[in-house]
Order: sequence, then structure tokens, then C-alpha cells
Amino acid sequence: MWKPPQKISWKPGPGVLPDNQELARSKLFSPLSIGRLKLSARSWVPAMVPWRADEQGNVTTAVLDWYGRFARSQPAVIVVEATGIRDIVSGPLLRISNDDFLAGLEKLVQRVKLESKGQTKLFIQVIDFLAIKRRPPREKYLSRFLQITSMHRENLNLPDASQDEIRTVLAALDDDALQQVLSHREWQALAMGYRELITDTDLSHIRRLPQELPELFSRAAVRAEKAGFDGLELHFAHAYTMASFLSATNTRSDGYGGSRQNRVRLPLEVFEATRSAVGNRFVIGARFLADETIEGGSTLADTCYFARQFAAAGMDFLSLSRGGKFDDAKQPKVGNPAYPYTGRSGYECMPHQLSDEKGPFGRNFAATKAVRNAVRQAGFKTPVVAAGGVHNFEMAENLLRSGTADIVAAARQSLADPDWLVKVRCGRSVEVRRCEYTNYCEGLDQAHKPVTCKLWDRIEMDDPGVLKTPDGKRRLTAPDWKVP
Ligand SMILES: Cc1cc2nc3c(=O)[nH]c(=O)nc-3n(C[C@H](O)[C@H](O)[C@H](O)COP(=O)(O)O)c2cc1C
Ligand code: SF4
Repeated sequence: MWKPPQKISWKPGPGVLPDNQELARSKLFSPLSIGRLKLSARSWVPAMVPWRADEQGNVTTAVLDWYGRFARSQPAVIVVEATGIRDIVSGPLLRISNDDFLAGLEKLVQRVKLESKGQTKLFIQVIDFLAIKRRPPREKYLSRFLQITSMHRENLNLPDASQDEIRTVLAALDDDALQQVLSHREWQALAMGYRELITDTDLSHIRRLPQELPELFSRAAVRAEKAGFDGLELHFAHAYTMASFLSATNTRSDGYGGSRQNRVRLPLEVFEATRSAVGNRFVIGARFLADETIEGGSTLADTCYFARQFAAAGMDFLSLSRGGKFDDAKQPKVGNPAYPYTGRSGYECMPHQLSDEKGPFGRNFAATKAVRNAVRQAGFKTPVVAAGGVHNFEMAENLLRSGTADIVAAARQSLADPDWLVKVRCGRSVEVRRCEYTNYCEGLDQAHKPVTCKLWDRIEMDDPGVLKTPDGKRRLTAPDWKVP
């Protein structure tokens, strides 16, 4: 089984500090066009789920404060967290699945415009995901959830046994013997918790995904535009439905799986439906994986092909992430669902400071550069967004100057210090609260708790104005920093 690398402890540093001249001619703080929008800089806060919506998926005051805090330092773009497009209650994750969500989302847009003084463009990431259940207790699974079939009778050589007799025999088997009797999917449902796959085409709602998703995404796009967002990011990355269509593990036989051409078909149909719903006036791009980093996953050549197809179809930006799959997730504890950031691919998505020789910073950059080159060679100028361990000016500037990307996204560094780029820009780099990449925030995400940063969430707790987590132990947003 894969174990996280723990060989070398990497320490993020300030890098070479820019002087005023370097800042003035920097690429990072230079403008860029993306679709019809003009960005004031190449800085981007990528989607991060903070677990602050209410149980229905509505915008709350805590959601407004979270995005308002990022907006105050005027990054060129903030992408709102993965937001659900289906009308299904899914806990405190934002939703955009019917018009009732519009009022809250409008408030969110207004708050970001106000706090950033109109400087930050606000995009929203829209997501579809399939059902996933918690890992069940063994007895409960065998006595209640498992459907007894002729296969079990055959494998146990008990052709005439009743359902109850079969369940009793199964319960008495050890794990190795049980695994021989159950199908692979049944064993997975027991060991990891049941999870729907896009290849479960015997289920009618899974079979119909290609017919239903373009409309679900396009309706979300219309709502996003109505709410006042500047753009939409289609979530085609990590462990979710659309990434599963792009994956080389997609073996659907209905024209939407198998070859690259078939795997990109639904993502393109989703994009075309959203584009025709909102027209060219609204920015639409996608986040997808430069590398799935799983066994049997898509290759870099696949990704270059997808990127060229997306650019040719008219996407306004291509944002590249890495890994984050269920396929190699660790076994969860009984009662918990699997979390797609626990295996090797999860490590590649959000690398820890304890790492291998490659280190946690920029693991996705070589692949991102290859994808961007493929897009440029095909004659498209579509801006490419890079992410993964960016934590200082030198790194961001190198990314842009080396032709790796056109825009730099920093997730955890922006969480650790939402003001980090303002500090750089006004020559106060030494005051940047540098992310330590120990993934305390990721642990909170995994536990479905409000995400905060360990570098600031216990600071100035006596201040009566500080809003706290329900247990009162942590503050919800980073302390203020006054621009000098
Ligand atoms: C708490 C947390 C929540 C995240 N939620 C999302 C998400 O909703 N959508 C997404 O595409 N990526 C999500 N990510 C991944 C980040 O956008 C980013 O790709 C990743 O953290 C690597 O960048 P970094 O090294 O700058 O943190 C999340 C990351 C963190 C730490
Ligand atoms: S908790 Fe803070 S310091 Fe730690 S990885 Fe997350 S953002 Fe960085």
C-alpha cells in the first residue's frame, strides 16, 4: 500500500525579494485578457471548499465573510468553491441548483465587489458528483445491505440455501474468504463504502448522465450570470463525475467512454450547452487534471488532446490541477466516507511539506507547461492557470516567465495569508505569513469541519468582533492586516 513520502522536510521561504523596479515590470502584476474580461494581474485564488454553507447549501454570513476576506486584498480572480448543480441536499456545500439560491449568491457577488473595490473578478466552480456512502460496519453490510444473489450461492456451493442461511455463512468467513465469495464491487462497498461509478450503466440515472448533465450545467451557468458572477469554472477535475468521463478508466460503451475522442465528448457537450445558454459575454473555462496520477489513468498525451479540444471549442481559460482521485484513496474508518486526497493521487493534488526529492512545490508545473505548449502549438492563445505549492513572488514570476502558465493560482498560501500579494506589492514581503504545507486545513476538510489555517485560527480570540467556529475554539477568518 502507498505511504506518504516522509523523506525530506521542505521549508517554504520568501524567495528572492523583488525591488520596486522588478515589481513594476513583473508579469505577475501585469494585466491579462480572459474572454471579454480584463484582469488587473495574473493572481488567482482557486476553488477551496470551506464548509460554511448551511445544510441546504445556502450562502451564510460565514460564506460572505470568507470570500470577503480574500477579496480585500484584490486578487485578480477568486473562484468560489465547488458548487452543486443538482437539486439534492448534500450538507454544507454551496448549491446553485435552483433559483432559490440566487438571492444568497447575489449577496456573495456584491460582497466581493465591495471588499475588492471592484478589482476582483468572481468566478464560481460548478460540480456534479455521484453518490458515496460511509464505510458500513461488517455485520450491518452482510445482514442488511448486501443483496444475496445466485452468484453467492454458487461461490459457496450452497445452491438451495435461504437468504438468511447465506448471510450467516458469510458473516462467519474471514476477510480473505469473504473476498472470494463477493464480487469486486460488493467487496469495495464493504471495505470502502458504496460509491456510484459512471460505468454503472445498469442504473438508469447513470446511463442517462450524458443526456442530463449538459442541461444541469447550462442552467447553473444561467443562474451564475444572473447572480452577477463574472465567469464559470466547470469542475472537470479530481474525483467527480466529469473527471471520471475524461479518465482512461472510463470504459462506457455508449460512445462516451473508451477512446480519447469518446471520453472528451460529454465534457465538450457540457461546455457547448453552457456556452449556448449564456453566449460569449460570460467567461467559461474548465479545471481538469494535467495528470490523474493513478494506475491506468489518462496520460499527458490525453490531457494535451483534451486541452486542445477545449481551446478549439472556445473555452476562455484552462486551469490545471493534479490527482485527487477515489481510485487510490485509503480505506476510511467504519462510519466515514472515503476521501479522495488520502492516496498517492491525493498527495499529488495537495502535497505535504514532508516529501520526496521532488518536493511539494510545483509538482504539476512540467505537465502544465507541456499542456500549454500543446495548446499554443495548435494555434490557441487560451490562458492557462497553474497551481500547486506557489508561496512566493519569485516562484510565481518564474512560472509566468518560463511559459509554464499565464495565471498563477495559490490556494493554501492565500488561506494562510490572504494579504500575501499585497504585502509583496508594497515591499513588505517579510511580513508574509508563509504557508507551512502541513495540511491541517485539508484535515478539517476531510472531517467536514469549517476550514481554517493553524497559523491564525487561535489569534486574538478575546476580540469581541471575532466570529468563531460553533465550538468557539477557532476564528473563522484571518486577522486583519492594515495596508500601510
Ligand atoms: C481546504 C481545501 C479545499 C479545496 N477545495 C477545492 C475545490 O472545491 N475545488 C477544487 O478544484 N480544488 C479544491 N482544492 C484544491 C486547491 O484548489 C488546489 O488545487 C490545491 O490545494 C493545490 O494548490 P496549493 O498548493 O496552492 O494549495 C481545495 C484545497 C483545499 C486546501
Ligand atoms: S493550515 Fe495553513 S499553514 Fe497549514 S497547510 Fe493549511 S494553509 Fe498552509
